[in-house]
Amino acid sequence: MASEQDGSPEASYDPMAQFAELAGDVRDPYSMFAGIRADSPVLHVELGAGSGGRYRHDDKAPRISSLFAVTSHELAQQVLTDNVRFSSAANAMTIGQVMGRTILEMDPPEHQRHRALVAKAFRARVLDQWSDPIIGATVSELIDAFAGDGHADLIPQLTFPFPVRVIARILGLPEADWPRFLHLSTQLIAVMRNWEGALAASRELRGYFGEIIADRRRNTRDDLVSQLISAEVDGRRLSDEEIYPFLLLLLPAGAETTYRSSSNLLFGLLSEPDQLEAVRADRGLVPPAIEEALRWETPLLTVARSATEDVELGGVRIPAGSFVAVSLGAANRDPERYPDPDAFNVGREDKQHISFGDGAHKCLGMHLARLEMRVLLNAVLDRLPGLRLDPDADDPHIHGLIFRSPPNLPVRFDLA
Ligand code: HEM
Repeated sequence: MASEQDGSPEASYDPMAQFAELAGDVRDPYSMFAGIRADSPVLHVELGAGSGGRYRHDDKAPRISSLFAVTSHELAQQVLTDNVRFSSAANAMTIGQVMGRTILEMDPPEHQRHRALVAKAFRARVLDQWSDPIIGATVSELIDAFAGDGHADLIPQLTFPFPVRVIARILGLPEADWPRFLHLSTQLIAVMRNWEGALAASRELRGYFGEIIADRRRNTRDDLVSQLISAEVDGRRLSDEEIYPFLLLLLPAGAETTYRSSSNLLFGLLSEPDQLEAVRADRGLVPPAIEEALRWETPLLTVARSATEDVELGGVRIPAGSFVAVSLGAANRDPERYPDPDAFNVGREDKQHISFGDGAHKCLGMHLARLEMRVLLNAVLDRLPGLRLDPDADDPHIHGLIFRSPPNLPVRFDLA
């Protein structure tokens, strides 16, 4: 595979520019959500011609002609915990087109069988084993590169490269392949913006993973691919065709969300210096700070379902086959559930949020995501004394309507 120095497309590729575009420039979707929620917690939205509450296809990306948006915490939870009336097959029409058949689009009983197989690789014992050598080492090497400068942009220099490198290491990919892997991962994740590019990246990644899987079948190692190959439930193992989609899913599910949630956590704390200092002084506040950041600015705003039958939800009739968009962002800011929902408050009593989803599909990687955020925040607090937003920073902000995070986070810190 190509390296960063060889003049290949990876050398000139700017993933941050692509991501900034993908996030969109919506700064505050929350007042719109509040307005919708106050009017009706379930809103029928017509998106264009060919409606009827169903999907519309053409020869390229599938388009959704109409949807029902769910914006209250209670109803969002109701939809996500009811996988009989609300199917995850909706994901087959979008992300499934570039990933193949992943657990994200499966319903019971197929979903339980497949989730049980891959869940083995994410159990606590495996996570502990990754904590220092993989997660800690990745954060250290990224911070080493700028710790002597007294200033940094924490997005391109820390939070963006962090989780993809962790996943590359967890998968046991050779370091020389990382730039290429990062490029293809970013192209795959940008599926909503560049459909053809994502399909091409998906094909190339499958070829690449095919070689890795074949290698691990010959020489088992201590990495996730080897664990997936040998995972067994009821005497059955995963085929290559079942392993590919799972490996592809790890990129959007595990890398993009964690990069954005780590960025939002740092942004929240840097915007509230008193809270940052409180967390620095009492590391027991690190876990609540992580949960509050996830609630306050969820990296992924919406998850998709489709109604399997005619359903009445929040007084609104949803016809069978309709696309249902569950707004995690709106649910996390529901004033019925959270007092003063727009404030970032590490001391908030209710620490539950819906950013990892709920029910049978609740995020499989949530323990890993929390661990990554914890290791990252502790390292930032340990190694960057006097950390503050750069007073010359040009308008720091969080934006996005599909995914949310700050495009840049320029900071200054004291040299130790
Ligand atoms: C802060 C970071 C993360 C957030 C906010 C997040 C969010 C979510 C959400 C909302 C779902 C449910 C989707 C649905 O119901 O349709 C989900 C599922 C999933 N996540 Fe995460 N995720 C994060 C990190 C990770 C990581 C680090 C991994 C693994 C490396 C991961 C792997 C998965 C997988 C495999 C699923 C599918 C589970 C299933 O369908 O049963 N996620 N995630």
